[in-house]
Amino acid sequence: MSNKGRVKVGIIGSQFQAGIHAESFRIMPDEAEVIAVASPTPGNAEKLAKKYGIPRVFTDYKRMLAEDDIEMVTITAPNYLHAQMTIDIANAGKHVVCEKPMCMTLEEADLMIETCRRKGVLLMFAEELFFAPKYVRAKQMADEGAFGKVYLVKQSEKHFGPHAPWFWDVELSGGGVLMDMGCHGIAFCYWFLDRPEIKNVYCQMSTHVHSDKTKGEDNSICILEFANGAVGLIEDSWARRGGMDDCIEVYGEGGVTYGNMHMGNALPTYSEYGYGYAVEKAPTTQCWTYPVFEELWNYGFPHELHHFARCVRGKEEPKATGEDGRVVLEVLYAAYKSAGTGRKIKLPFRPEGIKKPIDLWLNEDSRE
Ligand SMILES: NC(=O)c1ccc[n+]([C@@H]2O[C@H](COP(=O)([O-])OP(=O)(O)OC[C@H]3O[C@@H](n4cnc5c(N)ncnc54)[C@H](O)[C@@H]3O)[C@@H](O)[C@H]2O)c1
Repeated sequence: MSNKGRVKVGIIGSQFQAGIHAESFRIMPDEAEVIAVASPTPGNAEKLAKKYGIPRVFTDYKRMLAEDDIEMVTITAPNYLHAQMTIDIANAGKHVVCEKPMCMTLEEADLMIETCRRKGVLLMFAEELFFAPKYVRAKQMADEGAFGKVYLVKQSEKHFGPHAPWFWDVELSGGGVLMDMGCHGIAFCYWFLDRPEIKNVYCQMSTHVHSDKTKGEDNSICILEFANGAVGLIEDSWARRGGMDDCIEVYGEGGVTYGNMHMGNALPTYSEYGYGYAVEKAPTTQCWTYPVFEELWNYGFPHELHHFARCVRGKEEPKATGEDGRVVLEVLYAAYKSAGTGRKIKLPFRPEGIKKPIDLWLNEDSRE
């Protein structure tokens, strides 16, 4: 394996997030090039490969891992596959970029971290909010003291539900909207406050509109209490109409800032006739809409993957790691337990013999 020139990347998966990875490497191409893609449905990987000029296509990702020159592999497959894929990639001696949420169980998370450490490869956790330019700017200001002592950080992500059927099947996803999108907010608050110890977790969740499709929650409110006295408030919804909404608020004794990922950059638009695309998951482009521009850039995806490639070359240290992914997963477990019992849950929290976070909500009598 050469360790000069652009990092050679393989992508596992060929649909939604795989497209975002491929496009992100195209937007910031100087540190990495995608040379292979693997996805099981015949024709799908070919389609992505054709769009992005990716030379090698596989239906079995293990065959892709046998290619000597691939150095970094990004996982954009459903959540229940992340652990085994990470272990296979590490055993093949390649660096790993794992999409959120990290995996289904804390045992898996520990094994992923341990295997990558033992094999001498990086385990990088794909949390793009650590790279989103507007949110990075908010953190820079906080670090410069703009808000004084920060006592409350809020993050919320809302839309009307995911695009692929596996997200709705809790056996494959591990949970509902908290698992899917709350993992961003948990990571964000933790990172924004410089990773203080998390003392307690409270959570309320319910299913308001999608009970025909899923056992999972479609709305959640989660509160983190940090050891330094600060609070994180994370709101997520799959029940909110109107396309993707992603916001932060930061409150300190000396100031405040508000960030709206999309609306803050959008063009308030009225169109009688409609047009091609407004924003992720927007159901229409007619009447009043808020078309975004540079969508992936504003999320920080290109910056994230560019940074990970630089880490592979030893030019930077990973800013989002397997350890971060594990912290988020532990909070997810505590949050489902809190929602199931109506109590606040103290960390560390390590339930034994539980297969997925949502079981701690679904199996609690106190839901009745
Ligand atoms: N960071 C973000 O904001 C973000 C956004 C969307 C999705 N994601 C994450 O990315 C992952 C994928 O989500 P998605 O929206 O792309 O889902 P998707 O359903 O659009 O695509 C999943 C892909 O995984 C492939 N796949 C399934 N089984 C496989 C196997 N055994 N081997 C190889 N490939 C397999 C499918 O063929 C498909 O190409 C999830 O973990 C999701 O949480 C992250």
